Amino acid sequence: MRPSTLLLACASSVLGASWIAPGAVWYDTKGAKIEAHGGGVVKRGDTFYWIGHASSNQTPMLYTSTDLINWAPQGAQASSVTGMWRPKIAKPNGSFWLFGQQDRYVLSLKSSNQIGGYGQSAKVYIPPNSYSYSDTGMFYDDSTQTYYLLTSADHNIVQVNRINSDGTLGDKVSDLRAGAYEAPGIVKADGVYFLIVSGKTGWRSNPNKVFWSNSINGPWAGGSDIAPQAQNTYNSQNTFELTVAGSQKTTYIYMGDSWDSKGGASSNYVWAPMNINAGAHTVTIDYHTMWKVDPNTGVVSYPTTLKRYEAEHAVLSGRTVVKDCSNCLTKRSVHGVRDASEVTFHNVTGTGSRQWLSFHYKVNSPEAGEAHIYVNDEPAVNISSLNSLAGYHTSTPVQLNLRAGDVNTITFGATGGEGFEVAVDGIELFEEDE
Ligand SMILES: *[C@@H]1O[C@H](CO)[C@@H](O)[C@H](O)[C@H]1NC(C)=O
Ligand SMILES: *[C@@H]1O[C@H](CO)[C@@H](O)[C@H](O)[C@H]1NC(C)=O
Ligand SMILES: *[C@@H]1O[C@H](CO)[C@@H](O)[C@H](O)[C@H]1NC(C)=O
Repeated sequence: MRPSTLLLACASSVLGASWIAPGAVWYDTKGAKIEAHGGGVVKRGDTFYWIGHASSNQTPMLYTSTDLINWAPQGAQASSVTGMWRPKIAKPNGSFWLFGQQDRYVLSLKSSNQIGGYGQSAKVYIPPNSYSYSDTGMFYDDSTQTYYLLTSADHNIVQVNRINSDGTLGDKVSDLRAGAYEAPGIVKADGVYFLIVSGKTGWRSNPNKVFWSNSINGPWAGGSDIAPQAQNTYNSQNTFELTVAGSQKTTYIYMGDSWDSKGGASSNYVWAPMNINAGAHTVTIDYHTMWKVDPNTGVVSYPTTLKRYEAEHAVLSGRTVVKDCSNCLTKRSVHGVRDASEVTFHNVTGTGSRQWLSFHYKVNSPEAGEAHIYVNDEPAVNISSLNSLAGYHTSTPVQLNLRAGDVNTITFGATGGEGFEVAVDGIELFEEDE
């Protein structure tokens, strides 16, 4: 396999992923798909802790990282707890706490450690009016060192409740009564509080909105879009906002879930920096196909493209046909990709390890068919769950294991009914290291 000299020379970079790719499949450091849906992130010391629920049984799952890219799985956190949606970490005082929703109650779990050993502390309706709720959010206000539980309660009321210093759920401090909203998160920038919420459209994405206030006590005003409406929040739903206060820059990160049609295991994550203009009271997602933030400086960077392979220069089979494409780099792409009509790229350069590639393809209807990638002689990689990205952006990042050198053969194929149209523009390779 990989020569040991290469492994030793580049150990830190070869083994880890280099970028955050919104909407792509995200693997943990053991190679499994990350299962932390409806989650949130906190930082303690140099370590980030990402809690979220498992798609299969909604038990809280924890991952740790120092770079926000490579996440080590820490496993299930509360062995007997299932059906706990959208868990979030809080630490009011002494113990460590997780808050989430179970059976439309607020379930709080407590442990004496950050990692593992959580057990039920309380299961209560939200005071003062016994609202049942869904969609737990969490916000820590460092100016008062107070945690706030955010919920979307009955009657479409998004409610902000203090978490008391003993870990119990405290008074409501404000609420948003502006329509049917859920999935709340708060970020504070330049003294202004921004409350980000999604509409209520089940597992389907919608244009998420931002409201603002000069105080956690409200009132909340606004309701502007955080992304162009047609993007449906880049096919995601808000779950948490993370602030990385670096030595050079403070970067605010939108964390969303890109749910599959059932909120199941093929759901992905959309994380992206946000542009916040506190004076104008606007928050917008600064979407990039791949990016990262230096957790020490707070500075965001993007990968350089190393190489592109154009589909019209690849080997085409069956009924594929080269056509004009106004927004393609070379103004041409390959249409008619379907059964036995494929695009095969030869001599693609690999690193000998897992690496990022971006597939530039476009589908007319993400759920009308499937897209598959064949690398060398390996079984098909099913990228159909990423078709929604191809429906929006034409740039779909995928991590693949390629052999070292200019020796890889990659075939792009699609299956679907006559109405499923797939056009392939090309493949892009990115720098993996700094
Ligand atoms: C922290 O919790 C302990 C008991 O759990 C309590 O005695 C103490 O007063 C709390 N401290 C604060 C600042 O609330
Ligand atoms: C791939 O590389 C080999 C060896 O360099 C060359 O002979 C071959 O023509 C290349 N294939 C394509 C499709 O470019
Ligand atoms: C490919 O993935 C899609 C979306 O996750 C799924 O519905 C489909 O069953 C998969 N196809 C195969 C052949 O596994």
